[in-house]
Amino acid sequence: MRTLCFATNNAHKLKEIQNILGDQVKLVTLEEIGCFEEIDEPFDTIAANSEVKARFIWERFKVNNFADDSGLVIPALDGEPGVRSARYAGPERDNKANIRLVWERLRGLDTSAYFVTVITLIMDGGTYVFEGKAQGRILFGERGENGFGYDPVFLPEGSDRTFAEMSLDEKSKISHRAKAFNKLKAFLQGRY
Ligand code: IMP
Repeated sequence: MRTLCFATNNAHKLKEIQNILGDQVKLVTLEEIGCFEEIDEPFDTIAANSEVKARFIWERFKVNNFADDSGLVIPALDGEPGVRSARYAGPERDNKANIRLVWERLRGLDTSAYFVTVITLIMDGGTYVFEGKAQGRILFGERGENGFGYDPVFLPEGSDRTFAEMSLDEKSKISHRAKAFNKLKAFLQGRY
């Protein structure tokens, strides 16, 4: 079985994605390839940030790898929080404060929103991009205890429950992240 580096040091995330990809590949973390540096995310778009991480690893370590980046996009706020989703209200990465700031800015505006995940895979020198989106809208009130980030205020299209009111299994059937990683899985099938 060949190994593929996933540009993360988050063991929980690695396990979740290994579970989606199955045993056709063995994922390894950044630390396992000897990368201990913080990789900057200097760009204005989620796609560009995912690409810069994958390219950095390819150029520095010459290993096949993929990187992901996700965020919440609210068109009425010109795409905010977008690339700044984790730190929207400040560097503390405070989910509650981020949600409060969304409410403050969104009052009276169109509440349509979507989550997006972009994965950049660099494999044997080629670059491939996979995107997953989950459409929905923002609620002015939190519902549910599961999940993380903006889940308690995100009502996915066609559902009467927020992401935070769903089990991980349920969310994984419709989430942006699952859609993007299932595309990656289909691509790798038979190729890797
Ligand atoms: P990451 O790129 O997966 O680390 O996501 C960046 C940020 O986007 C997170 O810290 C959250 O604020 C937000 N985000 C991404 N995916 C989700 C999700 O599935 N639910 C809630 N918030 C999310």
